[in-house]
Amino acid sequence: MSEIRAVRWDAHSIVLIDQTKLPAVETAMECATVDQLVDAIVRLVVRGAPALGAVGGYGVALAMIQGERDGWDSTRLNAEIDRIRNARPTAVNLAWGVDRVRPLVSDGVDAVLAEAQRIADEDEAANRELSRKGADWILANTTRRPLRVLTHCNTGSLATTAWGTALGIVRELHGRGEIEMVYADETRPLLQGSRLTSWELTQDGIPHVVQVDGAAASTLLRGLVDVAIIGADRIARNGDTANKIGSVGVALGCSAAEVPFVVAAPSSTVDLSTASGESIEIELRDGAEVTEFHAESVAPEGAKGFNPAFDVTPAQYISAIVTEQGVVEPAAGVLVDSLVPEGERP
Ligand code: MRU
Repeated sequence: MSEIRAVRWDAHSIVLIDQTKLPAVETAMECATVDQLVDAIVRLVVRGAPALGAVGGYGVALAMIQGERDGWDSTRLNAEIDRIRNARPTAVNLAWGVDRVRPLVSDGVDAVLAEAQRIADEDEAANRELSRKGADWILANTTRRPLRVLTHCNTGSLATTAWGTALGIVRELHGRGEIEMVYADETRPLLQGSRLTSWELTQDGIPHVVQVDGAAASTLLRGLVDVAIIGADRIARNGDTANKIGSVGVALGCSAAEVPFVVAAPSSTVDLSTASGESIEIELRDGAEVTEFHAESVAPEGAKGFNPAFDVTPAQYISAIVTEQGVVEPAAGVLVDSLVPEGERP
């Protein structure tokens, strides 16, 4: 199977696959300044929680190198690192990546870069492990073979440092010969499903169709799906999960159709300091992303768009949450501490 690297460090800059241009154009964007990196994060040149974790780590090194070049004092350097940390609020991995390398700033760029590289390496290993665990859980909790899977947004190599989370499970299941069909929600308004997930599934030769987000409930109720698998931007301690807008609709459809709804993420996405979904900040993006399509207006002049980028699925609608550490089946009062390595729990 193909291996795509959405994020990599090259000499003094971060090189990103420009995901705004896919699938039409495969091109890279080089970020050599904090301004360029923040712009890339905000415009979703790079996106997906685990990829943002790696970008957070590398971003600190980038800021240090620019600070050295431009003569920043430590106050300015800290402010620039904060700009990277806060560029998008919902995916906890971005702040987590910055916070993990920040204590090493006083040890120099090489120390920061080494830790950032560890974040990237650990992410790939975590994704491969959670994919095995997730595939095992799904095969133990479904009966029809091969499986018909529904997924939402993009959770593959592009959204991580490599391999993917929910899409990593799909790849693992495909490798075991267990995939009949993937229903990929197109994921309005920025089409991460049709532009990116379909691109990745095509590269891997995995049978799939792209459906509009509004089709998901019907596809579920018609009995066309055996399991839904999504990723996560932040998993609260009680299991409530923030993910791409539309995810909670899929969860409700699964609940009505009695189809397992599985959340897959590396442990870096589990935020044990957030008690429940109520405290997760949801990024509100420009309404024009909804009222325009390819820079053409698709609403009457003056119509305003409402554009929350994420929603929260309450834990009660989630059948299983999988990280590289294991699987938790959320139920009333169950906490997800065991999804995080023991040494990292508060
Ligand atoms: O706005 P995006 O494209 O960054 O949203 C991405 C998602 O919601 C993904 O499902 C999530 O980050 C998990 S990626 C493995």
